[in-house]
Amino acid sequence: MTTKLRRYHITTFGCQMNKADSERMAGILEDMGFEWSENPDGADLILYNTCTIRDNAEQKVYSYLGRQAKRKHEQPDLTLIVAGCVAQQEGEQLLRRVPELDLVMGPQHANRLQDLLQQVLDGSQVVATEPIHIVEDITKPRRDSTVTAWVNIIYGCNERCTYCVVPNVRGTEQSRTPEAIRSEMEELGRQGYKEVTLLGQNIDAYGRDLPGSTPSGRHMHTLTDLLDYVHDVPEIERIRFATSHPRYFTERLIRACQELPKVCEHFHIPFQSGDNEVLKAMKRGYTQEKYRRIIDKIREYMPDASISADAIVGFPGETEKQFENTLKLVEDIGFDQLNTAAYSPRPGTPAAIWDNQLSEEVKSDRLQRLNHLVAQKAAERSQRYLGRIEEVLVEEQNPKNPSQVMGRTRGNRLTFFSGNIEQLKGRTVKVKITEVRAFSLTGEPC
Ligand code: SAH
Ligand code: SF4
Ligand code: F3S
Repeated sequence: MTTKLRRYHITTFGCQMNKADSERMAGILEDMGFEWSENPDGADLILYNTCTIRDNAEQKVYSYLGRQAKRKHEQPDLTLIVAGCVAQQEGEQLLRRVPELDLVMGPQHANRLQDLLQQVLDGSQVVATEPIHIVEDITKPRRDSTVTAWVNIIYGCNERCTYCVVPNVRGTEQSRTPEAIRSEMEELGRQGYKEVTLLGQNIDAYGRDLPGSTPSGRHMHTLTDLLDYVHDVPEIERIRFATSHPRYFTERLIRACQELPKVCEHFHIPFQSGDNEVLKAMKRGYTQEKYRRIIDKIREYMPDASISADAIVGFPGETEKQFENTLKLVEDIGFDQLNTAAYSPRPGTPAAIWDNQLSEEVKSDRLQRLNHLVAQKAAERSQRYLGRIEEVLVEEQNPKNPSQVMGRTRGNRLTFFSGNIEQLKGRTVKVKITEVRAFSLTGEPC
């Protein structure tokens, strides 16, 4: 389409879904002959893959965009693209706010980047935010790692948590077929990848929108069935999955994790609040008692499993007492890791217009108190690794110490040990843990 060498840059905000989408969009651009530019100022095409989960995530996008929009006045052939969740949320309004933009495209349109870009090169300013059926991607993603890879298994979310924009911006659930997932994993195995993380906003919903069965006649309706079906993909040594929803989480899944050796003993199950009234107002569909029962069950099968989660503080109407129930849950369960956030009202969500919003002071005070407890509990959880031998899949050199490599334990703890990355990348090494910190470990190969 163009003979001149064109360079592209992508900055990705937000969650693993966005990272996976960015890798696919980068693959499309490279197929079209674009070359990666680490420095955005050296690129002829800049794509921001954006997140709108909280207001500060969205504001960050505008500050990045403002800078590049200015640059466009000196370099009119610069192509500026906003993809992802802010694009979906704002649509046409983004063009009014930043007229320099060439293309605004929602997450469901990621695989269509080539078509959309062609329309831009033909001279149009394009907005692609209408809901569509996501087409299977035939381009090879340009993945950030050569060891671990994301594989989407279900797009969208059909839940209606009252604080959350995701259903508005990611659309309704759409599962990929087990065959498409397996063949992507087989390709990853052939390319030398060792670990796959299966992705979905509500991964336990996998398969409920799929018709019938596979050609072999087997039903592939649940995440558990899918894990069975992909477990023997050659070369893939580890399988992870995220994010689990307590409302749909099953004992069958726990059993499958215990029985299938490649599936890592790590569960990411956001609880959001430890208070039943708040959970109800959030429309989460479970109680804190049910959440505790899930964790108990996991620990009954796998006493050493790692547990991580997300939590929100300062949801509208949350009292000090209700917040203390969240602290209590964190105290009792002892998470290996917890992503915490102060509630942020999001346009188009029910809770944003309730009149019982809390002040920023209360929210940030609660966030600090929770974070303090989280670090303390994570440090306690790390203690159990001391002196133990853990399997670490080596991913990268330690950026802060080139004589060390880093990787993750099966339980997802980041671990450093001395070694040469050229020799060890992609290898699983037995490491004796000699030092523990709240969120990472150091050890010696043995
Ligand atoms: N699908 C996942 C969460 C996706 S969003 C689930 O159901 O748990 C990632 C996290 O962002 C959420 O778990 C929640 O803790 C946080 N989050 C979502 N909306 C938010 C809001 N309006 N304010 C603050 N945090 C929010
Ligand atoms: Fe958002 Fe709830 Fe869906 Fe998670 S399950 S993405 S929190 S609506
Ligand atoms: Fe953000 Fe969209 Fe993910 S809003 S958290 S990038 S689904």
